[in-house]
Order: sequence, then C-alpha cells, then structure tokens
Amino acid sequence: MDDFSEKLAVITGGANGMGRELAIQLAAEGCDVAICDLSEDDMANTAAHIREHSADIRITTHVADVGSEEAILAFRDQVMEQHDTDHVELVFNNAGISGGGSLFDSSREAWDRTFNIVWGGVYWGTRAFLPLLTQAEEGHLINTSSVNGFWASLGPERPHTAYSAAKFAVKGFTEALIADLRMHAPHVGVSVVMPGHIGTKIVESSMRHGVIGDLAAEEKALLELAAGDFEANALTTAADAATIILDGVRANQWRILVGPDAVALDEVVRRIPQDVYGPDGLEEIMAAFGATGETVLDK
Ligand SMILES: NC(=O)c1ccc[n+]([C@@H]2O[C@H](COP(=O)([O-])OP(=O)(O)OC[C@H]3O[C@@H](n4cnc5c(N)ncnc54)[C@H](O)[C@@H]3O)[C@@H](O)[C@H]2O)c1
Repeated sequence: MDDFSEKLAVITGGANGMGRELAIQLAAEGCDVAICDLSEDDMANTAAHIREHSADIRITTHVADVGSEEAILAFRDQVMEQHDTDHVELVFNNAGISGGGSLFDSSREAWDRTFNIVWGGVYWGTRAFLPLLTQAEEGHLINTSSVNGFWASLGPERPHTAYSAAKFAVKGFTEALIADLRMHAPHVGVSVVMPGHIGTKIVESSMRHGVIGDLAAEEKALLELAAGDFEANALTTAADAATIILDGVRANQWRILVGPDAVALDEVVRRIPQDVYGPDGLEEIMAAFGATGETVLDK
C-alpha cells in the first residue's frame, strides 16, 4: 500500500506516543482514523490536534481497554457504525505497557495485566479486525513488538518477564501470519514493528494503566526509569518512529526495526546470542544503545 489517502486506519493506544504520531501523520495524508485508548482526555487532545491540521478527514475516538477481548469487539463495532463501513485498510495494534518484571517479586496481577495488554491486545485486535481487513481491496496489519521481542532483557540485573514474553509472542504470531495471509488473504500485508528506545511517556502510562499494587519492587523499577528521563534520553522521537513505521508499511516490509539502537541490537543478538544475557555481552549491548547516553541499562 503506497498511498494512505481515502483509507481508514484503526490505531490502538492512539492517544499518546507512537500511536498519536501515526494518527497525525496518516491524517495529514488524507487517511480517516479511529483510535482507541484508556485515556479519554489524551484522545480528545489528539483528535483536536488532528481536526485543526487535517480538517478533511474523519477521526473518531473510542474508550477501550485492549486487555479485554470484549472491549476490543465493542471498539470494532463502534468503528463500523461510526465510519459506516464494513472494511478497514490499516490496523495498528500499538497499545502497550510495561510491568510484571519478575516472577518472584511482581504480583501475579501485574504480570497478567501486562501480558494481557501487550499480547492479548494484539491477538484479540487481530482477530476482531481481520474480517474487516480482508473485506478491503487492500489491507495491512501492523503489530508492535519491541527489541524485547528478540532480546528478553533490560540488562543482566533487571528481570523483564511479562513484557518480553508478550513481545516475543507478538513477533512470532506476526511472522507466522505472513504465510497464513499469503494463503488466505494475499491482498493483506503484515508487519511486525520492533522499536528501540523511543521518546514517549510509556513509563508514566504504565504506572497509570498497569497494576502497581502493594509491591514496592514493581513501582521502584518504573519510577527509576521515569527518573532516568526515559523520554528525553531516547535517540528517536515518537514522530520519527511513526515516519519509519509508515515508510516500512509503504515498502511492504514484514519487519520494521525502529531506530539505530534497534538495528544495532538486532545485529549484536544475531552475532553473539550466547552472551547477550550476561556480563560478557554487556559491553556490546551498551554499545548498541550507545548514542542514547544514559539508557535503561545504566540503572
Ligand atoms: N517507547 C519505547 O521505547 C518503546 C520501545 C519498544 C516498543 N514500544 C512499544 O510501542 C507501543 C507504543 O508505545 P509508546 O512508547 O508510544 O507508549 P505511550 O505510553 O506513549 O502510548 C501508548 C498508549 O497506549 C495506551 N494504552 C495503554 N494501555 C492500554 C490499554 N489497555 N488499552 C488501550 N490503550 C492503552 C496509553 O494510554 C497510551 O496512550 C507499545 O506497544 C510499546 O510497548 C515502545
């Protein structure tokens, strides 16, 4: 798909970060947009920005929790009704949060909440919208994984289990869909997005939407990331990330690495797979994130 004008794009987690920037850039190209999020105010803000700059397109906002299949199905029904359509051309399963780092000192509730949003959101989102994608003349499904979809770590002393497990699942699922779609719906393309460190408020958003219960360890880990200025220290802005993602969709790339750190890390993990979780590989991993200055790995 090399032209997004007069198409309809569905974006989960469209209120902030990369989802918001995708919505803004697609709208600027004449694409109608339906976004869902948990944050009604942030969605209203994104919608107002889009209406101001891209007056001709139609944007709708929907409160839906992608950690619930029922909510995603309701979102799908609202999109069909409010856009008066039986098809959509683009689906970005983008919403995600962090949390549930450890099987030992995170709560089961926090672990499951992260896994359900990060994996469930993509799986249920794909199931819900696939019939609408296949109804389109041409369609494209874009599932957001992470560098944590091929490297399950934030450093040798920071467990990152729920998020990494979910992001590996997103990557495997999306890669497996390549053949499934080729066999059954060859007019629908598919891409897995693997961002490196992108400047967004995901840490704050994870504290708002995840389960930060009674467990100090969970909260401490997220607060430390926030204090490290996760947003400001990223090499790639959310806007640049959205541009890279949309360029990848236009080029029909099934894997879209976002940011120089993602490209470098992908190379390191392939070159020294045995070393990337221990002290022996740390220097190489740090170098991959190198130009970001202080990174999550410094914590
Ligand atoms: N920022 C990074 O460095 C980075 C790196 C790799 C992957 N990612 C992934 O990119 C995607 C976008 O992240 P971002 O950095 O733009 O984050 P962000 O927090 O800026 O935006 C994510 C949006 O999703 C929404 N959201 C969270 N949980 C939700 C739920 N249950 N239902 C509906 N909406 C929900 C949030 O309210 C927020 O508006 C996520 O899947 C994230 O895991 C981010």
